[in-house]
Amino acid sequence: MDSLLLLGLFVLISVAVLFIRYNKRRWPVANFPPGPTGLPFIGAFLSIRNEAYAHKIVEQQVPQYGKLFSLMLGIPWVFASGYDVINEVFQSNKGYDFASRLEPSYNIQLHNPKKLGLFNADYSERWQQQKRFVFSTLRGFGFGKASFEWKIADEVSLLLSHLKDLAEVPQDLSTLLISCVANVMCDTFLGCHYDHNDIEFQHILHVLDEIFQMYGRQESLILEYLPISRPFLKQHAQKIIDLNEELYAFLMSKVAEHQKTFVAGREPRDFVECYLAKSLEEPDIFTIEDLKYVLSDLFSASTDTTANTLKFALLYMVMNPDVQEKVHQESMRVVGPSRLPCLDDHEKMPYTAATIYEIQRLSTIAPEDIRCATVDTTLAGYNIPKGTNIICDMRGLHYDPELWPDPERFDATRHLNEKGEVVKHPYLLPFGAGRRMCMGETLAKMELFLFFSSLMHQFKFELPPGREPPSLDPAPGFTASPFPFEVIVKEYE
Ligand code: HEM
Repeated sequence: MDSLLLLGLFVLISVAVLFIRYNKRRWPVANFPPGPTGLPFIGAFLSIRNEAYAHKIVEQQVPQYGKLFSLMLGIPWVFASGYDVINEVFQSNKGYDFASRLEPSYNIQLHNPKKLGLFNADYSERWQQQKRFVFSTLRGFGFGKASFEWKIADEVSLLLSHLKDLAEVPQDLSTLLISCVANVMCDTFLGCHYDHNDIEFQHILHVLDEIFQMYGRQESLILEYLPISRPFLKQHAQKIIDLNEELYAFLMSKVAEHQKTFVAGREPRDFVECYLAKSLEEPDIFTIEDLKYVLSDLFSASTDTTANTLKFALLYMVMNPDVQEKVHQESMRVVGPSRLPCLDDHEKMPYTAATIYEIQRLSTIAPEDIRCATVDTTLAGYNIPKGTNIICDMRGLHYDPELWPDPERFDATRHLNEKGEVVKHPYLLPFGAGRRMCMGETLAKMELFLFFSSLMHQFKFELPPGREPPSLDPAPGFTASPFPFEVIVKEYE
């Protein structure tokens, strides 16, 4: 009897200690954003296990806990929604307070343990130096200026000539689009250009696509948010490592080729040569290891996002033929039939520009923007300790009915004023904002305008007759992309 009592007491004390320790981790400071308590070991995992995107989790929790809430997922994560709170994340203390990235992310540690490069790096002097270098180099290449336009225009012409050969047979244009976009990147950063049928090129695009899809898989969420699962998911973790290693190996083979022909003092021909020259000046900061992660970030952050936006653009156009017709008519009026649109036409094509804004709003290619507190700070009146991860629900922001009436409807005129001029609403943030905002915004905007306006100028895109309309929902992944769909391409006479 005595020993039974002792055992019962032991169990009780153990459970109490477990809960006290759990709660101490769950609520790291007083006045921490509220949220469900969760359970020891699994936290709030059960309430998020079926949700690939944060906006679904936010929809569930906001009615009870408000626009800033927390969930225990291995560590406490804070979810920010609504323009005011998200804007505070981006701008608080001149953007400094939330200028770091995920801490500590298992998925990132697997392939980038030192958090080097651009995207996954913490806010640090090293990251700032890499960023300044990237910006000044890209400016030197003429980003945002006509001198760079021809690189994209060449790729646009190739895309158009491929489409002319399609002979109105239903086609999924994903591979074609991503190949063209990736070639702009290869040209700029690696100084090479690939034939679309090149096996190495298609393989690496496939690897890139798999990496983005892997991060959207259930197993990756479990690995990230349920630490006790890690010994059971070693195979999935290894796949993440292997895919990233393949991408690194491809990029480093290009760097090795450059090292063989590099001549110090000669005018650099591409980004890699600029970096090699810089590494001679500051060898401790601009190392080959840093270059590996910088290139990988530039390649992956630019290719998938831009190509997915163009895929969604086609999807929305086939689903909204009246919009497609108006964009085509505007390009005919401004550009005429004898040449293709160029960047100078942008200002004169407000309906096209507004349509691109609407495509970016509805597709929200980066549905979550993830930041981390660089210091102990506050957010929406709550205390946030240094190192807390904040997930901003960007898709929710772009579908907020108070900001965008009837948010599911495609309506380019939301971005036009009474005079018919384009308006950039402050709460349209496809490239994020603040200190960690997208480094390639200028290039991405140039590409989106030139590719999209030229496609609309030359071709009419239609759904194959008799088919079910494709889903407008995003497929699971780190970035949003449409589910596969086919279109018929008709050339204007
Ligand atoms: C339509 C195309 C694109 C979209 C929608 C997009 C979107 C984004 C978003 C939302 C972020 C996170 C911003 C934040 O935390 O506030 C980001 C970061 C980044 N993007 Fe883009 N991006 C696009 C194209 C590009 C291109 C073309 C490049 C390269 C030339 C690029 C390079 C980067 C880099 C390096 C970062 C990391 C910035 C940092 O952490 O400091 N992106 N992008």
